Amino acid sequence: MTTLALKVTPNADGFGAEIRSVDLSRPLPPGVLHDVKAAFAAHGVVWFPDQPLTHDQLEAFTLQLGAFGWDPYVKPMEDRPHILEVRRDADETASVFGGTWHSDWSFQETPPAITILHAKIVPPVGGDTLYADGVRAWEALSPTFQAMIAPLRSVHSAAGPYGSKGFYAQEKGRTGMTILPSVEAEKAYTHPLVRTHPVTGRKALFVNPVYTVGIEGMTEAEGKALLAFLFKHMTDERFVYRHRWAANMLTMWDNRCCLHNATGGYDGHTRVMHRTTVAGDAPRP
Ligand code: OGA
Ligand code: MN
Repeated sequence: MTTLALKVTPNADGFGAEIRSVDLSRPLPPGVLHDVKAAFAAHGVVWFPDQPLTHDQLEAFTLQLGAFGWDPYVKPMEDRPHILEVRRDADETASVFGGTWHSDWSFQETPPAITILHAKIVPPVGGDTLYADGVRAWEALSPTFQAMIAPLRSVHSAAGPYGSKGFYAQEKGRTGMTILPSVEAEKAYTHPLVRTHPVTGRKALFVNPVYTVGIEGMTEAEGKALLAFLFKHMTDERFVYRHRWAANMLTMWDNRCCLHNATGGYDGHTRVMHRTTVAGDAPRP
């Protein structure tokens, strides 16, 4: 069933789309929810301007898409175990949270399918989020290279950022968010390097420079060289969409087929986002 109500405006290349004429504060009628899911499957990143939401409404919208994901290493909001506040205060000098290309929690056995970010305070300059389309990045590779990498598995770990000696454990000067480094983060999981999307059936590259640390069966030097090529290729400007926020905008992205990267450039201004995740499946080739 389709409704005429939803207004979907995709970017020219089809990666990313704006959705209007829907009210996310109330349960979506089945036809509207169906259309939102279809637009999301088609465009990978979708955003809904002008959606003021309470915490309850943000949680209820999230649950219409699936169960909550598991969000370790960042202290959630008080009394809201499933909402993280992604916050950087005006006087803060710490690094930008999420400020390197990644797919959320890709080190988990079943990484979150979807991340939802709801903008509360948007700085007047900077603070855009970049998105990179892992589907077109895969499709742009030569058949020879595709055949070579398709059977590979890559190793993912959260040790770099969240390990007991990781980046956040060393970092000083963070005020807006409480990061909880842990030895637990030093575990590793392997995932297919190329994964097939459970909804669309399309293949996408599934590696990222924050959590992917090697290639199964390769030496460290071999794995690093292959990954360096893939990271550069995936984040080539052909595949990247730069997202500009406005207060009360809700954006959701598909961690199964795209990368994202938070940009800075707003020192002296506060930026606040509320974030939920939707659980996903174990990646399959
Ligand atoms: C995240 C993230 C990007 C941003 O919340 O997972 O990467 O622009 N955020 O805040
Ligand atoms: Mn992220």
